[in-house]
Amino acid sequence: MKKVNLGVLISGGGSNLQSIIDHIESGRLDARIKVVISNAPGAGGLARAERHGLKHLVVNHRDFPSREDFDQRLVDILNENEVELVILAGFMRLFTGVLTGAFPGRIMNIHPALLPAFPGAHVWQTTVDYGVRFSGCTVHFVDQGTDTGPIIIQAVVPVLGDDDADTLAARILKQEHRIYPRAIQLYAEGRLKIEGRRVTVQPLDKSLDPDFLINPPLDN
Ligand code: GRF
Repeated sequence: MKKVNLGVLISGGGSNLQSIIDHIESGRLDARIKVVISNAPGAGGLARAERHGLKHLVVNHRDFPSREDFDQRLVDILNENEVELVILAGFMRLFTGVLTGAFPGRIMNIHPALLPAFPGAHVWQTTVDYGVRFSGCTVHFVDQGTDTGPIIIQAVVPVLGDDDADTLAARILKQEHRIYPRAIQLYAEGRLKIEGRRVTVQPLDKSLDPDFLINPPLDN
């Protein structure tokens, strides 16, 4: 199976990055991480990249005169590293058309709510305060808006009566770690098709695997 080249953008602890690394290392995700970029110096995710021998660097947004200049630097680094799919994993910067225009349909984001409910920041507190009974997480393709792109996969969790922002965040995060690698694997298998707002998942085409050919095909 061909491996998809990833560039992972982070700002914080990088637990989603870790989950992607773990899935790759255990052979459950046909991808390779070409570069990890943090806009925040000292982000915990950088140490994770270091531990796993992954190329990692800081591109501090404060060093750039405009959002566009910052995004252009990201695009240049991603292209230099032959990145095919850009993974936003807790990347806390608003991006411009410079980034989305360079990777149309090739940027994914994870958001800790059931979009289109509760987009934006401070999600867990807003969710608890609103009093909804269920929340969850969403992996979506990135378009020009904030958390508005076509949805690839979602997981639902209950919101319990005694939840605060932290307990809810922890429950959601566990599911994030499951669905993000899954979304990337579907991409790697060439099975995601964007049609307007909708993402369809094509059946697995076993003939794509050059390692074997079985006819009639196996069920799984
Ligand atoms: C996750 O909840 C993600 O959904 C949100 O920021 C958090 C990042 O966590 N966008 P981590 O850095 O992957 O641990």
